[in-house]
This record gives sequence, C-alpha cells and structure tokens, in this order.
Amino acid sequence: MNTDEFKCKIDQLDSAWKDFCDAGLAVVDYLNPKVTVEIGVHFGYSLNVLSFRNTGEVYGIDIIRQDGISIPENATFILGSSLDEAKKWDTGKKIDLLHIDGDHSREGVKSDYERWLPHLAGRAVVLFHDVICYAAVWNFFIGLPDFKLVLKGEDECGDTGKTFGLGVWTADSEVAEALEKTFKKNNFSLDRS
Ligand SMILES: C[S@@+](CC[C@H](N)C(=O)[O-])C[C@H]1O[C@@H](n2cnc3c(N)ncnc32)[C@H](O)[C@@H]1O
Repeated sequence: MNTDEFKCKIDQLDSAWKDFCDAGLAVVDYLNPKVTVEIGVHFGYSLNVLSFRNTGEVYGIDIIRQDGISIPENATFILGSSLDEAKKWDTGKKIDLLHIDGDHSREGVKSDYERWLPHLAGRAVVLFHDVICYAAVWNFFIGLPDFKLVLKGEDECGDTGKTFGLGVWTADSEVAEALEKTFKKNNFSLDRS
C-alpha cells in the first residue's frame, strides 16, 4: 500500500489525530523506532500511522477494545491500563517512541510519563496528543525538562477555539534539533515552548 492509499484507508477511522498523520510519519522516518508504545488506541488511527513504516515492534494499549477498531497486522493490541502495563513491561525492551494519548487528566498524563520514563531508550521521543486542547495536558507538558516542540494542526477541538496539538518531547538535543528541522522543512505549524 502506498502512502495515499494508506491515508484513504485510515481516513475512515474516527480520530482527533488526523492533522498529525504526516508529522507522525516524519517522526517515525527520522527515529526508525525498533520499539513503539502507544497509550490510548481508541479506533486505531494513530496506531496505524506509527505502524505504517514497519520499522519494528509496535504495541497499542487501551482499557477498551472498541468495535470497529483497526489494528495493523504488524502491531500488538494490549487490553489493559497503561499503569498496570508499565509495571509488567519487559525492562530489557527499551522504547524508542512513546505516544501518550490515554487519560488526559493532569494526574493521568503525569503518571503515564513517569511510569514509562524508565523504559525509554536514550534517544527516545515522547508524543503527547491533545497538548493544546486540554489545559491539564498542556500544564504538565510545559513543565517538562529538556526539549519540547508543539505541532499545532488545524482541526478545532470542540468549540474551544483551540486545535488539538501534538507535543513532542525528547531529552536528546540532537534528536530535537533534527525533528525541528524536519517539521520546518515540511511546513508543519510549529511552536517552540
Ligand atoms: C483520545 S482516545 C485515543 C485516540 C487515538 N490515539 C486515535 O488515534 O484516535 C483515548 C483512549 O485512551 C483510552 N484510555 C484512557 N485511559 C487509559 C489508560 N489509563 N490506559 C489505557 N488506555 C486508556 C481510552 O479508552 C480511549 O480509547
């Protein structure tokens, strides 16, 4: 399947992630992740994006398995809570790309970040969806140390007048610089925070 066919296929899935298909693919293309974990699969839109390049193992965790969910052949769906799964995670399997899109409360996003942090590889990237839409996610995200980028997107989050936003965090300055260059080159709307 080429990228256009892929986009048509996943466009049928209900998701607030649609602004970030190209950005997600760009992150995967740069990082070439061997292990990707997603918290919050819902119908599977972002899981499909993060799996599309087939760079390695991809795990999607959700407390609910929706009817009509689309799980790519090369991804593994885990039914369970992100916090329980963090406890059970094989500590030998370091995560290159983590996508946090589950519980959007401050405590939820903070716990997801903190519980999964020990499992991250050195050059890992963490994506935070809804970083603009949800004040709790934003307030946690802007307090993180190291390098943060925010992709704005265009679709509106309900009637808030805000977009959904995708936060991109890494502790590695080289990775941050390279991603910023890629996002700019592709004209993704960007805020440095
Ligand atoms: C906004 S949706 C995810 C959207 C999805 N990433 C997409 O591409 O459309 C949030 C999902 O997180 C799940 N969720 C909420 N809290 C969770 C938790 N603690 N662990 C795992 N999944 C959780 C919900 O069941 C829901 O399906």
